[in-house]
Amino acid sequence: MLDVLAGIGRNVRTGGYRRDAWSSSELELREWFGQEADARGLDRYEDRNGNLWAWWGDPDRTPGVVTGSHLDSVREGGAFDGPLGVVSAFQAVDVLRGRGFEPGRPIGIVSFSDEEGARFGVPCIGSRLLTGILPPERARGLTGDDGGTLAEVLRAQGRDSVGLGRDEKALARMKVFVELHIEQGRNLTEPVGVAAAIWPHGRWRFDFRGTADHAGTTALADRDDPMLSYAHAVLAARRVAEQFGVVATFGKVRVSPNNANAIPSLVSAWLDARGPDEGAVRRLVAELSEGQEVVCESWTPEVTFPTALRDRLAATIGGPAPILPTGAGHDAGILASAGIPSAMLFVRNPTGVSHSPAEFAEPDDCAAGVTALADVLADLCGD
Ligand code: GLV
Ligand code: MN
Ligand code: MN
Ligand code: MN
Repeated sequence: MLDVLAGIGRNVRTGGYRRDAWSSSELELREWFGQEADARGLDRYEDRNGNLWAWWGDPDRTPGVVTGSHLDSVREGGAFDGPLGVVSAFQAVDVLRGRGFEPGRPIGIVSFSDEEGARFGVPCIGSRLLTGILPPERARGLTGDDGGTLAEVLRAQGRDSVGLGRDEKALARMKVFVELHIEQGRNLTEPVGVAAAIWPHGRWRFDFRGTADHAGTTALADRDDPMLSYAHAVLAARRVAEQFGVVATFGKVRVSPNNANAIPSLVSAWLDARGPDEGAVRRLVAELSEGQEVVCESWTPEVTFPTALRDRLAATIGGPAPILPTGAGHDAGILASAGIPSAMLFVRNPTGVSHSPAEFAEPDDCAAGVTALADVLADLCGD
């Protein structure tokens, strides 16, 4: 199934994917989801927040066991971050049916909309809207790199943004959620592991303002160059991150007007900061923000997955399965923070590289992930 998806949104020169939410490549992936659901006779629909669902059984009769992930990707991302969880969900249903399993509860497959926030800046838009963590009025006005708001993008596709927001019906259909995901660091040495926690993390936009002027005729002493402030911030982020035991990244920058031969008037740069200790992340941001113009675009507090559930997953998959924290954000973390019992399975990433075309998981490990997911779903259906 990953092979079927391999060509969608792929940059043939680099091998990286571009699957921004609501782009043509992501719409193709949504179509694929519908076809896979139909091929299995699952009841499928798109909810008010653009999340895709497919059900084996009726979740209005009794709340179900839900699994899935997302189909969008970071820009120049890999093939696994997101799609592996959705593909594995369909595969796990096939495995259970092959075993002749009769689910005691409905099993749901979900693909959350815009998990990466590549287009509108805020990650996990679909699950944040669904749970009410992101107010719909803020979501509607989020502006993409192309200048269009989320509301405009949805409208252009004949989708309404009026219905965005907390979805009680969708929440009531979920008894428990399990997301399978490729591990994104180098800490998982077994084929499959279980998530313990997600580090607190956030994104902040720094606006460094200066005065545009000629690159040749403006004396160094006369310059008001915001690029220098930006450069200082990048170096400070590294120094302070080391000092506080967190990670900090300036991975996106926009220079205005972006001429090689002019001093810029504005440099906007996005800081991504995370770490095991929320206080340390906040201290880093406070220190870097001092005297600067900063807007917080998103903040996700630490998530500790329910211990009994995570231990149950680990016992089900056996091994014994490693239980590990992660510095990557996930929809499962959003659902957990909204009170939906949630857990995650990780599939080994031999190099730890992710958010890059080089992201990779061995086929055997992916297959082990599917078996583990099927076992976990069967176990959770027993309650
Ligand atoms: C998303 O994958 C993130 O952790 O930024
Ligand atoms: Mn990601
Ligand atoms: Mn992901
Ligand atoms: Mn993520």
